[in-house]
Amino acid sequence: MFLGLAAALVGSLSIPASATSSNTTLLPLTFNPLPLGSITPSGWLRDQLLLSAAGLAGHQHDFYPYVANSSWLGGSSEYSGLNEGFPYWLNGLVPLAYATDDARLKKQVSDAVTYVLDHQAQDGWLGPETGNSRNLWARYPLLLGLIQLVEADPQTWEKPVLDSIGRFVGLMLNMLNSNGTGYLWHEGDGLSEADTTWGRVRVQDLLITLQWLFERPGISDGVKANAKNSMELLIQGAISWADWWQEGAFIKGDLNFLSTEGSDGPRYPYEHGVNAGQGLKALAVFRRFTHNDSLIDITRRGVDWTFQYHGAASGGILADERLAGLAPYYGSETCTLVETMYSLSYLYQAFGDNDYADQAERIAFNALPSQLSPDWWARQYVGQPNQGYSTELSSNPFFNVNNVGQTYGVENDYPCCTVNHPQGLPKFLSQSYLRVGDDGLAHALLSPASLATTLPNGAAVTVNCTTQYPFATTLTYSITASRPFTFHLRIPTWSNANSSHLFLNNSTTPTPLSPSPHTGLHAVPLVAGSSSLTFTLSAPLSTKARANDTLTVTRGALVFALAIPSTNTSLPAASYRDASTPLQGAPPQARDWRLANASAWNVAIDPSSLVLRSGIESLDGDAGGASSASGVAAAEEPLPNPIFAPGAPPVWVEARGCEIGGWGVYRGVMDVPPPLAERACINGTRKTVRLEPMGAAKLRIVDLATVEVGGDQ
Ligand SMILES: *[C@@H]1O[C@H](CO)[C@@H](O)[C@H](O)[C@H]1NC(C)=O
Ligand SMILES: *[C@@H]1O[C@H](CO)[C@@H](O)[C@H](O)[C@H]1NC(C)=O
Ligand SMILES: *[C@@H]1O[C@H](CO)[C@@H](O)[C@H](O)[C@H]1NC(C)=O
Ligand SMILES: *[C@@H]1O[C@H](CO)[C@@H](O)[C@H](O)[C@H]1NC(C)=O
Ligand SMILES: *[C@@H]1O[C@H](CO)[C@@H](O)[C@H](O)[C@H]1NC(C)=O
Ligand SMILES: *[C@@H]1O[C@H](CO)[C@@H](O)[C@H](O)[C@H]1NC(C)=O
Ligand SMILES: *[C@@H]1O[C@H](CO)[C@@H](O)[C@H](O)[C@H]1NC(C)=O
Ligand SMILES: *[C@@H]1O[C@H](CO)[C@@H](O)[C@H](O)[C@H]1NC(C)=O
Ligand SMILES: *[C@@H]1O[C@H](CO)[C@@H](O)[C@H](O)[C@H]1NC(C)=O
Ligand SMILES: *[C@@H]1O[C@H](CO)[C@@H](O)[C@H](O)[C@H]1NC(C)=O
Ligand SMILES: *[C@@H]1O[C@H](CO)[C@@H](O)[C@H](O)[C@H]1NC(C)=O
Ligand SMILES: *[C@@H]1O[C@H](CO)[C@@H](O)[C@H](O)[C@H]1NC(C)=O
Repeated sequence: MFLGLAAALVGSLSIPASATSSNTTLLPLTFNPLPLGSITPSGWLRDQLLLSAAGLAGHQHDFYPYVANSSWLGGSSEYSGLNEGFPYWLNGLVPLAYATDDARLKKQVSDAVTYVLDHQAQDGWLGPETGNSRNLWARYPLLLGLIQLVEADPQTWEKPVLDSIGRFVGLMLNMLNSNGTGYLWHEGDGLSEADTTWGRVRVQDLLITLQWLFERPGISDGVKANAKNSMELLIQGAISWADWWQEGAFIKGDLNFLSTEGSDGPRYPYEHGVNAGQGLKALAVFRRFTHNDSLIDITRRGVDWTFQYHGAASGGILADERLAGLAPYYGSETCTLVETMYSLSYLYQAFGDNDYADQAERIAFNALPSQLSPDWWARQYVGQPNQGYSTELSSNPFFNVNNVGQTYGVENDYPCCTVNHPQGLPKFLSQSYLRVGDDGLAHALLSPASLATTLPNGAAVTVNCTTQYPFATTLTYSITASRPFTFHLRIPTWSNANSSHLFLNNSTTPTPLSPSPHTGLHAVPLVAGSSSLTFTLSAPLSTKARANDTLTVTRGALVFALAIPSTNTSLPAASYRDASTPLQGAPPQARDWRLANASAWNVAIDPSSLVLRSGIESLDGDAGGASSASGVAAAEEPLPNPIFAPGAPPVWVEARGCEIGGWGVYRGVMDVPPPLAERACINGTRKTVRLEPMGAAKLRIVDLATVEVGGDQ
């Protein structure tokens, strides 16, 4: 296996004549996403998206050189020869602009896309590169941005964008037929072998656009044939994730101790964190074209192994910026988080496994907000599950992240997470409701959001979900439909359907829930007219063991962290290349932060003492005390904004805890706690401690050391 893997990675000079079976039909997704713009956020989700629009994401087009002065827009600022900064930004800004219905952002997108389309090369190339320096990769996020724009505003964009993409695909097929130019590496051309690796290991992100094109009504047969033939050649030349998710190839453990390869090693394309996040969906995308069903199980194994050996409790992949192990001092890149969310929601659409949706929610509600400042003006490059401080370090345990990588800032460490973080929540929103067959809709990623769409059976449907989920566990829906249709509610894997409750039309008698064991969906047939649903999930407080005799505390989709009080200071945003140089033109809100612990962090908790506290307890589903309508009014009360700020969420956990001795520092960061047998309370430090939703706790301990606290003092 390893030899085969290496052979696949060491540049092929021509496309191997391997047997990629193709088919003129694409296998359907289990559930289909709705056109961008069908879903409108509300409640806390809308507040978060508005903060992003008013924060770093929504201002890069004004000041951030890698967007505002990108080579794509006639400037020359690029952080790497891949020229990917602007494409990543566009991929996130399109759904953000339409989620927030923000005219300012729509104009940024419109101006930028107009420029790019107007500057398409005669031969169809999109982007600034010329001659033999053309590399397909940066087109993948560009095209994902463009097809979202067509969905959101077909009247304006369908014709120009599809004309342009059609020309580009024709050129691309010629390049692929010419020894794979721009995709495979050739001695003596303008690209390094490493440059072409990105396109080959991330090719699923291009296939999504080609498949979208292939299925869109009104596309000419010629363009469809070009898309199909391109897919065939792209898959043949891909660095396949099927080779990595095999015994003997995949590394099950801490790469910092087990791997002797650097970033030029043959397995690095799979080990790179952003690739690992993007790649989770790769085989599901390939399968639509190849009809190879063994890719379902290989994907299942790939996802399971990735999280079992390299996953954080918060849902992220620990990779800084190579896969690490399970120790909570490793980090997840913010851009890895948003790519992992997108892959997992795609996997739920493709295969319907309930836990894929749970995992996407877990990142959206925990890891992602934990790595952003409350006002969305600063992001971490990497965030650690156990993060006792977020200051400039003297050394660090990371593979390829510098000593300010775990601080909050504008472009500290590297700009990729600045340009790529905006896609996370807007795509979560746009994939939250899905179409089920011709006459059904599912609420897949639970959150406050409304929907207006027309189903293939002709039913015009509106759904309005009001909820404080995941902070509370009741979701209320008001639904109108012009014809009967079936609405599906997703019961997450952590919830027991038998103690969850559904009330139809304000009835006082609950409707029994019988979700599909595979998808978690419970079908509710609805008549034409209006209907009301009140849905309360059981969500017990629970704990899960982690490495090094630690555990994490969850309740429903929320992960709770011991909140470490902090003080902060800020500096003008610095250039990532040279910390002493301020970033030119940055507005005053764009600052780099240093967060110091304001108390000791060497605190352990007694797991027998955990108590859930909630300002919205009457709504909670764990006690089984739900009633039909009592929660509705409270569920509509607004949550604090920003919600992901220290102390803001109205739900937290109390525990008895104490400081323990022997908990030191490893390479500049909090070490794993001492072994269980050596843990003892330092006399006089017993106290009640607060665990809060980790998204709010910028300094935190997620993998909690346990200790028996005993009686007072
Ligand atoms: C294409 O896929 C369909 C459905 O899976 C199958 O019936 C058909 O035989 C396939 N055709 C080819 C050429 O593989
Ligand atoms: C754009 O990039 C060029 C070349 O790097 C530089 O000279 C110019 O100052 C940049 N402009 C802005 C607004 O960043
Ligand atoms: C492909 O590469 C070979 C070997 O370098 C070269 O002889 C041939 O002309 C190339 N073909 C095309 C279509 O570029
Ligand atoms: C399906 O994919 C697997 C993994 O890449 C491969 O081993 C197998 O040969 C493929 N099957 C067919 C029929 O192509
Ligand atoms: C720093 O503290 C201020 C005041 O509490 C707060 O508003 C701000 O969000 C904090 N910054 C970060 C990056 O957490
Ligand atoms: C959804 O319902 C809430 C509460 O009744 C209301 O405030 C909101 O405007 C509705 N949203 C839509 C899009 O209808
Ligand atoms: C739910 O109830 C059914 C019917 O009583 C039972 O078969 C099933 O095991 C229960 N499920 C759980 C998760 O308790
Ligand atoms: C259920 O109660 C809500 C709130 O009182 C009301 O707005 C709605 O119309 C009721 N639904 C039905 C079907 O009676
Ligand atoms: C719910 O109430 C609406 C309005 O009263 C009614 O038209 C509809 O038939 C009811 N739906 C069900 C499933 O009882
Ligand atoms: C912590 O747990 C990891 C994973 O099980 C293990 O490899 C490592 O040796 C442990 N560290 C210590 C200090 O025990
Ligand atoms: C912060 O943590 C360090 C250990 O990393 C500790 O020495 C220091 O006392 C803590 N700061 C405060 C204010 O407690
Ligand atoms: C705490 O106090 C007890 C009783 O006074 C003593 O036996 C123990 O050694 C002390 N532990 C520490 C860590 O100081």
